[in-house]
Order: sequence, then structure tokens, then C-alpha cells
Amino acid sequence: MQRALLTLSISIAAMLASPAAGQDVRSTELIERALQAKPDTSAGKKIYNEHCTTCHGARGYGNAEQVIPALAGQLPIYVIKQLVDLSERSRTSADMHRIAARKPLTTPQALRDIATYLGTLDPNPKPETGDGAQLAMGKRYYQGLCAYCHGAQGGGNEAHATPALRRQHYSYLLMQMRDLSADHRYSVDIEIVDTLRQLSYDQLSAIADYASRLPMAGSSVVDSEQRPSQPAQSVTP
Ligand code: HEC
Ligand code: HEC
Repeated sequence: MQRALLTLSISIAAMLASPAAGQDVRSTELIERALQAKPDTSAGKKIYNEHCTTCHGARGYGNAEQVIPALAGQLPIYVIKQLVDLSERSRTSADMHRIAARKPLTTPQALRDIATYLGTLDPNPKPETGDGAQLAMGKRYYQGLCAYCHGAQGGGNEAHATPALRRQHYSYLLMQMRDLSADHRYSVDIEIVDTLRQLSYDQLSAIADYASRLPMAGSSVVDSEQRPSQPAQSVTP
């Protein structure tokens, strides 16, 4: 976890030149304090059941019709960062901003507990997928451009606070890829934005379809896949 902490501090610190520098320092500190807290999974379950199930579902499978993400099996460090980003409006969502501001969620301990609990849940066995028409193209782009960060099986990378994408709803993945490439999530590395920006709508849709179908494996909190520093191969559109 020490390594994860350090990497995150460095990556967030790298953005301190932005106008919202004060906010980045505060967010980093809160994320670090949450990561240092000793997780209490049953406390996390209690918070989840009281505040989150109406939208994200009893088992954390999300709701494809309302484009609400699955959270089951997501990596804890990523969940903590998103909850902080959503409270600080480094990521905007009217629904989630108010939820993340509720008193029981305002302590670093609560962030730790809820994220750890979600990490113990098995991923959604039946996420929404696309129409399956362009899976070969989706695979080629995903494995070429995304896998070195998100994992070949979409399991994410804890050390780099990179989310798992497998078993996530197609429509949510596609929406977030479009949001990210339009710079609508602010505390995100420019490399990610640039990667997504070069892709057409059809390519994004094919990748979201492919990623949503990646297997159940990787539900564990620790993903041992190492992140190489370069894409596995170059993909020519
Ligand atoms: C009123 C409905 C609603 C409730 C209640 C709700 N959420 Fe959400 N949540 C959403 C929506 C919608 C999004 C997608 C936001 C977006 O469009 O960027 C989201 C996104 C998230 C994300 C980001 C997931 C990702 O893959 O990036 C996390 C983490 C999250 N919610 C955690 C929680 C937790 C923990 C609770 C309970 C304390 C909760 N949510 C309660 C609607 C809700
Ligand atoms: C350099 C590493 C890197 C590359 C390359 C990359 N990503 Fe990501 N991606 C990330 C990180 C880190 C985040 C979390 C951003 C944040 O903290 O909000 C992310 C977030 C996302 C999300 C939002 C997930 C959610 O639950 O809200 C999606 C979808 C996504 N990436 C898809 C892709 C796809 C598809 C590709 C390839 C075309 C790609 N990414 C390439 C690192 C990367």
C-alpha cells in the first residue's frame, strides 16, 4: 500500500500547477488518510446498505437502465479517490455529490470501510453489454491501448488507482469514456484523455462492448498485473 500511496501522491502532485492547486493538496491528504485507516468491512457494509443500495443495488451490480455503475469488486483505492473527487467536484455528478457529502461518509475511516467492503463483493455476473457486432475491433483496441493500464482482463491496477472495467455496464463505460475524452473528469492524467480522444465513436462503443464482457476473474482486491510503461502494441485506426 505504501507504493500505491506514493504513486498517487506523485500523480496528483503532478497536477498542482492547475488553478485548483489547493483542492488537489486537500484531496491527496484525505485519500492518504483514508488509505492509512484500518478497514472495518462490516461498518462499510452498514453504510452501503443504508445509503447506496437504492441506486447501486443490494449486491453492488449498479443499474444499466439508469446508467449507474456497478461497484462490486471495484478496487478500493479507486473507490476512495472517486468519492473524494465527487465531494470536491473534481468529478461532477449531481446525484453523487450530495451522497458523498452525507455526514456518515465524511470521515477518512468511512471512506476506507465502504471501499474495502465493495472490494470484497463479487463482480456483476450479468452486466449490460453492447450489440456484439464489433468485438474483434473492440478487443484489438482494448488490448493495444488500454490493457497496459486497466489489465489484460480488465482487473484494474491498485498501485496506480486504475479502475477495473470488467463486468461494468456497457452504457456506463461508454458514457465515461466520452466524459473523460471531453475533459469532464478533472483530476485525471492527460495521457488517459489523449488516448481516448483519438478514438471515434464506433471505436469507443466497440471497446466498451468488449470490456463489459471480460471475465469474472480479478474480483480480488490485489491485482498482481504489473503496469508496463508503454502500450503493448501500436494500433493504427
Ligand atoms: C441517487 C442515486 C445514487 C446513490 C444513492 C448513490 N450513488 Fe453512487 N453513483 C450514482 C451515479 C448516477 C453515478 C455515476 C456518476 C457519473 O455519471 O459520473 C455514481 C457513481 C459512483 C461511484 C463512481 C464509480 C466509478 O466506477 O467511477 C462511486 C464510487 C459511487 N457512486 C459510490 C457510491 C456510494 C459508496 C454510495 C452510498 C454511500 C452511493 N454511490 C450512492 C448514483 C448514486
Ligand atoms: C495511462 C493509463 C491509462 C490508459 C492508457 C487508459 N486508462 Fe482508463 N483510466 C485510467 C485511470 C487511472 C482511470 C481513473 C481516473 C480517475 O481517477 O478518475 C481511468 C478511468 C477510466 C474509465 C472510467 C471508469 C469508471 O468506472 O468510471 C474508463 C471507462 C476507462 N478509463 C477506459 C479506458 C479505455 C477504454 C482505455 C483505452 C482506450 C483507457 N481507459 C486507457 C488509466 C488509463
